[in-house]
Amino acid sequence: MGKTITGFSKLDKIEKINWLTEAYFKGDNRFVKILSQYWNNDQKLQTLHDEFIENTITNFYLPLGIAPNFEIDNKTYAIPMAIEESSVVAAASNAAKFWQSRGGFKTSVISTKKVGQVHLDFNGTSKALLDFFNAIKASLLKATSEITKNMESRGGGITAMELRDKTDVLDGYYQIHVNFETMDAMGANFINSCLEQIAKAFKFHFDANDEIEGDLEIIMSILSNYVPECIVKAEVSCHVEELSHKNINGSDFAKKFVRAIKIAQNEPYRAVTHNKGIMNGVDAVILATGNDFRAIEAGVHAYASRDGRYRSLSDAKIENGIFTFSIELPLALGTVGGLTKLHPLVKLCLNLLQNPSAKELMSIVAVAGLAQNFAAVKSLVTTGIQEGHMKMHLLNILNQHQASSTEKEIIQAQFKEGNVTHKAVVDAIEKLRQ
Ligand code: MEV
Repeated sequence: MGKTITGFSKLDKIEKINWLTEAYFKGDNRFVKILSQYWNNDQKLQTLHDEFIENTITNFYLPLGIAPNFEIDNKTYAIPMAIEESSVVAAASNAAKFWQSRGGFKTSVISTKKVGQVHLDFNGTSKALLDFFNAIKASLLKATSEITKNMESRGGGITAMELRDKTDVLDGYYQIHVNFETMDAMGANFINSCLEQIAKAFKFHFDANDEIEGDLEIIMSILSNYVPECIVKAEVSCHVEELSHKNINGSDFAKKFVRAIKIAQNEPYRAVTHNKGIMNGVDAVILATGNDFRAIEAGVHAYASRDGRYRSLSDAKIENGIFTFSIELPLALGTVGGLTKLHPLVKLCLNLLQNPSAKELMSIVAVAGLAQNFAAVKSLVTTGIQEGHMKMHLLNILNQHQASSTEKEIIQAQFKEGNVTHKAVVDAIEKLRQ
């Protein structure tokens, strides 16, 4: 049975750990040992991490891997990926190398519009509220001027604002729908501050006006993580013959590949897994560059179902012997603000990516998603996914069984050609140890 506590947040780190040890680990000190193994010796660095969130007791590591040789819009990148799943970095690297000799990846940022909304209830007439809104719209914008000043000097700010009558979806429901341009910032704080200021000013003007009939209540003000107009496109293309490799015929491969994509475009069970593969690449770069992967995930999956059915985010075609594989992703990203200057590894990853603008990062992330998808579907329609996956997983199995470096070397050599299964690896370890 779990125990409860009041004032947990008031305890210091050691007190928190002591309480957890007693309450959940029967006083077993191995719990403390594991936690403390992950503390950083550099106290300043540890404090920095402690203070990212509340109630920190230790750090939670993810491996940071590099997928080199990405040719994107004629620039070369080594892409940092923070991810725990084996074979993702290897797959990205393989896809990068494959396309490097076939023209590389081409991208274009189609739009960068971000959105926020003030949600409100009003029980008067729609016309009265709309007229009132239009009459005070300039004052609402003026109310945000202190917040928008800096962003405007960088070329961004509020780009449009309108009152939307949503009473068809919910009785009495309206929203002030605001568009933003946030340049190189993800802009969550900026957008939310603007929205709260707009809501406050709207309520103030409403209360000061005794002509408009009805009651107004502000429900909430918040940005939207649905960004269907903050879109980047990435693609690769080559003649189908250039897809021939090893014992694969390029034309047959291209046809099978396109068929697999069509299946993912029309069958939700497959589409979800297909898109999960894309997000393996996307999330890993999002994490490494200090962006919010939950926001990206939510927005991307909503975009995948924008026509009412959940579909593949990528597309493929063969036209006049040319194979084209592309992806369109909604990505609201930042390369300034947030964790970007704060987290030393995030800073390093952005340096490694040659300090991209938010638009360039959108391109890099979309490419990572497309590369990952290419690698996954290529395996699926040729060898099957398990061959490569289990080869990478081999090391995890060896580590689970505390294999020494010599044991690892011997067993990895043994499985270079053979089929890796969990049982076969365990048998091999046992045999070696006899
Ligand atoms: C595994 O993490 C991702 C895949 O399932 C993606 C796919 O099926 O396309 C291999």
